[in-house]
Amino acid sequence: METVLITGVAGFIGSHLAEKLLEQKYRVIGIDSFTNFYSKNIKKNNLNFCLKHENFSFINKDLTEIDLLPFLNKSKYLFHLAAQPGTRNSWGLQFGTYVKENILVTQRILEYAKISNSLQKIIVASSSSVYGEQNGKMNEENTRTFPISPYGVTKLSAENLCMVYAKNFNLPITSLRYFTVYGPRQRPDMAFMRFILSALTKNKITIYGDGNQSRDFTYIDDVITASISSMNDKSANEIFNIGGGFVISVNDILEKLKDILTIELDISYEPKQKGDVLHTESDISKAAKLIQYHPKIKINEGLELQVNFVKNHMNLYT
Ligand code: NAD
Ligand code: UGA
Repeated sequence: METVLITGVAGFIGSHLAEKLLEQKYRVIGIDSFTNFYSKNIKKNNLNFCLKHENFSFINKDLTEIDLLPFLNKSKYLFHLAAQPGTRNSWGLQFGTYVKENILVTQRILEYAKISNSLQKIIVASSSSVYGEQNGKMNEENTRTFPISPYGVTKLSAENLCMVYAKNFNLPITSLRYFTVYGPRQRPDMAFMRFILSALTKNKITIYGDGNQSRDFTYIDDVITASISSMNDKSANEIFNIGGGFVISVNDILEKLKDILTIELDISYEPKQKGDVLHTESDISKAAKLIQYHPKIKINEGLELQVNFVKNHMNLYT
């Protein structure tokens, strides 16, 4: 049985990844410190399935302090997902947290990976935010990375550090640029979660800007499929866009939500937020070719699945 180490395992993406790997008969070691970015109860709930599984070990430690070597030496694969996410809150004093969690922790992990003895592949969560404001499709080779949020700067730095360690120490690293991920367990600071919760509790929905900003939203199951496929990527040191394959505006999402919930929405338009790009659109042809990534879940289905999840977990989120 092969062992996979996952950092940030109690988070939105990490918990789904751990579950799928356990189902596929991997042994999983998960690390998470339950940072206070959002409720610990939500993160504990994310781990419900894993904690009952005989092939799961949970390490409740902070990656700024833990000695990772014993865990890395047991593992064939490392997924580094732990981070301080969110573009709009990365200004001001918060930036120190972003630098620590996204840059320093990544560099610390790479130092351990450098001296570990059994890793076959390291997969690191990057972000569409490294591209910044662009028109049209974002391509790994041809689109200039020019983040417009401090968060995006830290994710690009982490990606660059991965390249530096990969080249100098021959580490087999793959970076995955996830595009706005949604579905059950989405973080409570993200748009869909906020919209659904506000609608169900009859509160005002806040839209930043005119609502015409658009995203290449990606359903969580597609993200997990892509992430697991990348474990077998033989070409070392690649970067892949992982997007949903279609683009939709925030206004159109609210129209769909109105139809699914069959309630009128109380919407308030507030100023556009600094650090928020107007448009994301992934070119996923490289991921299609090299890791056979073909997103399957369409927005109507994905949104309904997230609405059902929220309805069944209102106590956790309100
Ligand atoms: P999340 O906040 O739900 O999960 C991150 C987890 O990491 C949390 O449970 C947190 O407690 C843990 N963590 C953070 N710092 C830690 C530390 N020092 N020690 C131990 N644990 C720590 O976030 P998510 O949405 O699941 O994102 C996962 C990764 O994917 C992040 O790297 C994020 O930047 C990236 N990403 C996410 C999205 C998205 O749309 N959700 C899009 C692009 C990239
Ligand atoms: C998301 C994640 O939060 C980041 O961690 C991640 O790195 C990024 O995707 C990525 O793709 O790399 P974002 O695209 O801002 O960032 O995702 P949402 O928080 O879901 O926001 C989507 C859009 O809805 C944004 O334009 C935002 O301004 C808008 N929004 C969000 C609102 O209008 N109102 C809200 O209450 C929340």
